[in-house]
Amino acid sequence: MKSEPARLEIFLARLAFLLCGKSVYKTFADGLPVAGGERVLDFGCGMGTVAYYVAQKLPHGSLTCLDISERWLKACRKTLRNFRNIDYLHGESVALPGENFDLAYCHFVLHDIPESELASVIPALARSLKPGGTLVFREPLEQIKKLNLIKRLVEQNRLLLKDSRITDIPLMGNALESVYIKY
Ligand SMILES: C[S@@+](CC[C@H](N)C(=O)[O-])C[C@H]1O[C@@H](n2cnc3c(N)ncnc32)[C@H](O)[C@@H]1O
Repeated sequence: MKSEPARLEIFLARLAFLLCGKSVYKTFADGLPVAGGERVLDFGCGMGTVAYYVAQKLPHGSLTCLDISERWLKACRKTLRNFRNIDYLHGESVALPGENFDLAYCHFVLHDIPESELASVIPALARSLKPGGTLVFREPLEQIKKLNLIKRLVEQNRLLLKDSRITDIPLMGNALESVYIKY
């Protein structure tokens, strides 16, 4: 069971968002394949750091923000209070509807999930994508063992690598950014 964040953690995340929102989260959002009408999933949305920028790119689409933590989801609702194209989902990925999303993204989430849970989380994420849909993740490079497991699980679930690169993220260090397409 995932523990809830302390108030201080939420405060620090909000501060990082205010100080580095554009250089960290907007750059990631700008790289996502969003034209404006897609159904998009932010898996592990936290306080809505990336979602804040993605929601602005979806005038005709919708964004589902999912988090296992009620407190993070509450903070996310606050960040996104001015947007009307958002759904909020609390809980586990296994409850996700099948073949529903054009795009799902995970920003610094998968490395945080225990290996035993990744074995069900990643298939559920893959199932939730429409055929031809895209999965994008950005995860810290230092967790190389976890990254190798993530890559293996992703490729076992009908997702084909389209693009992968290492980027240096302000305050966060090197991260692996990968894009997969569901076949
Ligand atoms: C490091 S935070 C990143 C939040 C946000 N994506 C960002 O980059 O600011 C990781 C988030 O993943 C969520 N999380 C962890 N395990 C999860 C799971 N199994 N299902 C959904 N969310 C999860 C946590 O509650 C937390 O909000």
